[in-house]
Amino acid sequence: MNTNRITINKIQEMKVNGEPISMVTAYDYTSAKIINSTKIPIILVGDSMGNNILGYDSTIPVTVEDIIRSTKSVTAGAKKPLIVADLPFFSYQIDIKSTLLNVRRLIQDGGANAVKLEGGEQVADTVKKIVMAGVPVMGHIGLTPQSVNKLGGYKLQGKTSESAKILLNDALALQESGAFAIVLELIPSELSREITDTLKIPTIGIGAGIECDGQVQVFHDLLGLDLEFSPKHSRKYAHLAATIKIALENYDADVRKKKFPTKENSFFLK
Ligand code: KIV
Repeated sequence: MNTNRITINKIQEMKVNGEPISMVTAYDYTSAKIINSTKIPIILVGDSMGNNILGYDSTIPVTVEDIIRSTKSVTAGAKKPLIVADLPFFSYQIDIKSTLLNVRRLIQDGGANAVKLEGGEQVADTVKKIVMAGVPVMGHIGLTPQSVNKLGGYKLQGKTSESAKILLNDALALQESGAFAIVLELIPSELSREITDTLKIPTIGIGAGIECDGQVQVFHDLLGLDLEFSPKHSRKYAHLAATIKIALENYDADVRKKKFPTKENSFFLK
């Protein structure tokens, strides 16, 4: 076992000490290696890989196999952060036996340290059973992208006092079931504050304001890896798509003008 890896105890300690927790997605070895060189304590192998690397228009088609393949390469590249792998759509809804078999695959075959699943009170019993099997679980409430068709789009959740109350109850049910942290996605800041103040476990927000115990962002959004996409809840800390485009154009131009490779890049017989 890698004893240097961040544990769920450390994440809990960060909440108690009021130390903000950052989490970022990764889907491959190269990005995981770069994240490993920072102090970011949690990597999420998110099913947002559907949108960001597989070219789907939602997370719904993502499979357990997709998550396992990515988790393997992420765990190979990142030895320090806690690795949380998403349970994809319909990998935990059918029955507890198939759920636990899928959890086993993410942990034993993928090498994840914890799993994340979407939903509140309705998945509380499932969370309890996964935790009882010895696997840490991160909850995810508010906008739950796997239910985009039911929700009618990627919309702010918990806007009415009734829906806010349901989300608070969901958060409490997940905590009661043994979840070690909860992602709050696209909910008003006032509600994030109430949930964060009420819970003993950390909340990790995305589009949920500054009041959460931590923040999670998609790697591609933070680094500007899409020339057009720029969600309100994110901030581009780099504009890599534009940088990469220029680099590729320069390479192409050099090949066309026979400026690459030069002698320095070539091999010759003595
Ligand atoms: O898959 C993902 O990237 C996520 C985050 C939005 C929390 O679930």
